[in-house]
Amino acid sequence: MSYNTFGHVFRFSTWGESHGPAIGAVVDGCPPGLSLSEDDIQPFLDRRRPGQSRFTTQRQEPDRVRILSGTFEGRTTGTPISLMIENVDQRSKDYSEVAQAYRPGHADYAYDAKYGFRDYRGGGRSSARETASRVAAGAVARLVIPEVSILAWVEAIGGDAIDPARFDPAEIGNNPFFCPDAQAAARWEKLVDDARKSGSSLGAVIACEATGVPPGWGAPLYAKLDAELAHACMGINAVKGVEIGDGFAAATLTGEDNADAMRPGSNQTGGPHFLSNHAGGIAGGISTGQPVRVRVAFKPTSSILTPVETITRAGEATDIRTKGRHDPCVGIRGVPVVEAMVALVLADQKLLHRAQNG
Ligand SMILES: Cc1cc2nc3c(=O)[nH]c(=O)nc-3n(C[C@H](O)[C@H](O)[C@H](O)COP(=O)(O)O)c2cc1C
Repeated sequence: MSYNTFGHVFRFSTWGESHGPAIGAVVDGCPPGLSLSEDDIQPFLDRRRPGQSRFTTQRQEPDRVRILSGTFEGRTTGTPISLMIENVDQRSKDYSEVAQAYRPGHADYAYDAKYGFRDYRGGGRSSARETASRVAAGAVARLVIPEVSILAWVEAIGGDAIDPARFDPAEIGNNPFFCPDAQAAARWEKLVDDARKSGSSLGAVIACEATGVPPGWGAPLYAKLDAELAHACMGINAVKGVEIGDGFAAATLTGEDNADAMRPGSNQTGGPHFLSNHAGGIAGGISTGQPVRVRVAFKPTSSILTPVETITRAGEATDIRTKGRHDPCVGIRGVPVVEAMVALVLADQKLLHRAQNG
């Protein structure tokens, strides 16, 4: 009923609020004997950490993870793995206005409507601070699927997309946007700066590819791998759209164009040789051995300095300008979060496949 837990066999629950003392995750169902230390998790948290460039929120959180349980002598024991990250840079006074009036597009009104009471400091539980816990859990999931490589990047900001011909994976770590196209990254500096300076915000599209997924993971119909990935990515704050493979564009193709033709031979996962990958590596809800491809649409940040019409808790008309420190484009920091959710789904699906098929 409370929906803070995700997964079937490899499960994790997250806990904590933006301005509480700490946040964290409990990972349950992790196989025993995997080598795990904080050093396996920290690099992923460092990629999501706020305050690393002027294009993200200036909240300064070191996001140091501590493993509290579930390991012994550096290896997982098969018992719950508890991960904790302290909150150190809260400024709750920035949020006094949000206590009284609802930010349109944020969760303020909806949380009040559901619970009648909310922790408004930094958005409380609805804050994307929670995504640090998922990134930590996702780092553990990656240890379960060493055969899989997961890479995400920003494909478009504010409707300005990368040029696929200039895609260079080595560029992704070279700029503050996780952008594989150096020219697009240069354009986005001005785009995001302008939005930030004018007190506005921008949306973004993130693409993610998982290579090395063998044929056979997933399930038909009600638990299609497509659906599991969409569920996982839709559960990320500010996500409003998820596509698998060509997604909505597939509806514009003919059957011939959309078919992923097969030839004899084998790819690196032992699957057949496919001539294209419109399906995003999934057919019938089950992986085909091709790269699994997901695209995720993040809406623009709803906390903006431009005044927006809203109502107070008492139902009176007012305007709200959200002060405090916010991401001008939340999709940028969404990149490691999407990777984590894809890793968590694939680790779960690997164990489920093993459970049914041996
Ligand atoms: C990495 C990340 C950072 C975010 N930072 C902010 C922020 O600074 N300000 C804000 O208003 N929303 C931010 N969001 C989005 C809100 O958390 C989200 O819009 C809110 O919880 C309402 O949920 P919904 O957009 O899914 O409906 C962020 C989202 C992500 C993924």
